[in-house]
Amino acid sequence: MKARKPFVGGNWKMNTTLASAAELVRGISDALSRVGAVDIAVFPPFPYLVAIGGILRDRHGRVRLGAQNVYHEPEGAFTGEVSMHMLQDCGVQMVLVGHSERRHVMGETDKLINQKVKAVLASGMECVLCVGETLEQREAGHANQVNERQVRAALSQVPEDHVPRLTIAYEPVWAIGTGHTATPEDAQDAHAKIRGVIEDLYGPRSAQPLRIIYGGSVKAANARSLFDQPDIDGGLIGGASLKIAEFVSIVRSAADAATQGE
Ligand code: 13P
Repeated sequence: MKARKPFVGGNWKMNTTLASAAELVRGISDALSRVGAVDIAVFPPFPYLVAIGGILRDRHGRVRLGAQNVYHEPEGAFTGEVSMHMLQDCGVQMVLVGHSERRHVMGETDKLINQKVKAVLASGMECVLCVGETLEQREAGHANQVNERQVRAALSQVPEDHVPRLTIAYEPVWAIGTGHTATPEDAQDAHAKIRGVIEDLYGPRSAQPLRIIYGGSVKAANARSLFDQPDIDGGLIGGASLKIAEFVSIVRSAADAATQGE
């Protein structure tokens, strides 16, 4: 039995159509309606949140609804941005913050990510904070330092009583969408180090229950070996979350890893 209930999220990124998103979510929730022992969420594109939320509610909310991004200001002249209240109005329960594509393609800074993390947690929603080093940083031997810096910066001034609504996703940039997955041992090492940073910031009572999930080319074929590691508490899945059978198999691997030995 694993120490923490695993969490598996499907980050659909800028993929799907309204019709294919609906088909995907129906397939996933029907296949997973009886798989316990794992928390599951999907993160569809903004325009489909209401429709996908409706389908999930009709299926009794086994799969939770997440958003891929948010803006931290409550309202106003921020053209093209989406607020916390708008997401909550659409039934969103959790938000990804600091995904590597937001950091590296859109240029989001540690400061902006910190503002977003604080605002999401203060709103009562759950926050999945993504961190991870680039290939260059890994090859220079700086992976752990980079992850530590990103975690500390993102959590600056986050009060301890908000930490139970936080999940951290370790997503090495070089593993995202490349087919190169971190080895289970390397990922375990990074997760344990990140848990150590949380322990340093908030103490073991906050660090032990915190879920740290892995993302970066997770597929049905490699999921179980990652989820068997003691500090890998599930996954954040990109490409493979767009295929019903792959995603369902990954969630089942998390359930099997969680209940092994029972
Ligand atoms: P891939 O699973 O496509 O590598 O993407 C991982 C990811 O970025 C999830 O947020």
